[in-house]
Amino acid sequence: MDTWKPVAQVGDISPDTGTLRVVYEGEAVCLYKLPDEICATQDRCPHGNASLADGYLEDGTIECPLHQGVFDIRTGKPQCPPVTTDLRRYEVRVEADTVYLKAQ
Ligand code: FES
Repeated sequence: MDTWKPVAQVGDISPDTGTLRVVYEGEAVCLYKLPDEICATQDRCPHGNASLADGYLEDGTIECPLHQGVFDIRTGKPQCPPVTTDLRRYEVRVEADTVYLKAQ
């Protein structure tokens, strides 16, 4: 059963990229620091072998660094070609600056 697990401190998320790659239950997950919340999705782009933590975060979307596919971070939905598959999302909870994840 998936349970809440601590994966990082809020301050670990890069202020430059707004992203951080972490591991939850053996899976690579990307954390995104948005102005009003922290979100989390699978880190590996479903289109190829790219880490979304190396992508470009803007206005609640992440652009894949390999072929520039774009996803809405809050919904996991692809926004433009070549990506067509939703990202797996994770529930996020922050307590005392510790980020906890739970699979949705
Ligand atoms: Fe991400 Fe191709 S690997 S868009």
